[in-house]
Amino acid sequence: MRVNHAAIIGAGAIGVGWTIVFARSGLLVNVYDLDEKQLESFHSRVEERLKLLAENQLLDRDINEILGQIHTFKSLHDACANVSYIQECGPERLEVKKSLFAELELITSAHTIIASSSSALKPSVMAAELKNPERFLVVHPANPPYLLPIAEVVPSPGTNSETIKETMELLTELGMKPVQINGEPEGFVFNRLQGAILREAYCLVRDGVISAKDLDLVVTQALGRRWSVIGPFTTSALNVKGGNRAHAARMADSYHRMGLERGQNDPWSDELVEKVSNSIEQDWKVEDWEKNVLRRDLALMHLLKFIKQDPDLTF
Ligand SMILES: NC(=O)c1ccc[n+]([C@@H]2O[C@H](COP(=O)([O-])OP(=O)(O)OC[C@H]3O[C@@H](n4cnc5c(N)ncnc54)[C@H](O)[C@@H]3O)[C@@H](O)[C@H]2O)c1
Repeated sequence: MRVNHAAIIGAGAIGVGWTIVFARSGLLVNVYDLDEKQLESFHSRVEERLKLLAENQLLDRDINEILGQIHTFKSLHDACANVSYIQECGPERLEVKKSLFAELELITSAHTIIASSSSALKPSVMAAELKNPERFLVVHPANPPYLLPIAEVVPSPGTNSETIKETMELLTELGMKPVQINGEPEGFVFNRLQGAILREAYCLVRDGVISAKDLDLVVTQALGRRWSVIGPFTTSALNVKGGNRAHAARMADSYHRMGLERGQNDPWSDELVEKVSNSIEQDWKVEDWEKNVLRRDLALMHLLKFIKQDPDLTF
């Protein structure tokens, strides 16, 4: 691992989350926040979560050893001077992020990668005034990153390929599942998907179709449970014998009409369905359809067994 020493800027919820991801894999972690109270409570907030992870057999290293790798700093310069990767976790305000990056560019080596956790700010906008935008990009986590391993790696047009490659490799070594997002779409992908569901959910409640409570039940008792083991494309592939092509042949018109009701005219073209099928079939062959349906069911059974073991988990 080229990166064995990282810095976290901003010791809030996401700063704690990334620190656990880095430190549990053996990295040294420097933490900076301009609020000293956040630094004073930092180790105890990390420790609380590490204990919970250990109690649930999700930590294979000694807690004190991990805590010993984490150091807090009252100076941005001291925190970042000797690190090769920085994960910025400050507030979601463009002017704060821009001024932090301008300072970081001056005080770090030319090889230090600067990643922002931003949920919605475009990397090209945040990097607009940087002299060296090639080592800057967004690495957007799900919250909390030590339990939800996806990381959206969003380069700006100015980010160089070496920075993207090194960041993807680092995240993989840390046990994360990095996905590269192209073109800086508003909300990246995680929040666009979340937003699509949430927008429709609000419309359905507004129109009196379902109560908010029952809508949540539809997700927790079916959609969400299924999506925790297979994604929406694999779900479609396994819902209709014959995979995504057969699913689209049967359902595409209905989904198109649902979109039109919300002013969205995005039919699935044959080429698009072909592209999706070819990608999904790399892991879920159509000729193994029956076997794959059982594979899905078994994964759901394992999940259900765990949920049923703890009545507090059946909300
Ligand atoms: N909370 C989430 O669910 C979530 C998920 C993914 C990404 N993010 C993104 O991560 C970032 C951090 O979010 P959060 O929820 O941890 O916020 P937070 O409010 O919990 O923490 C922000 C921290 O930054 C500190 N801070 C403020 N100005 C600073 C500065 N100039 N320099 C250094 N530190 C400064 C604050 O004192 C605070 O401790 C945001 O960009 C957010 O959009 C949040």
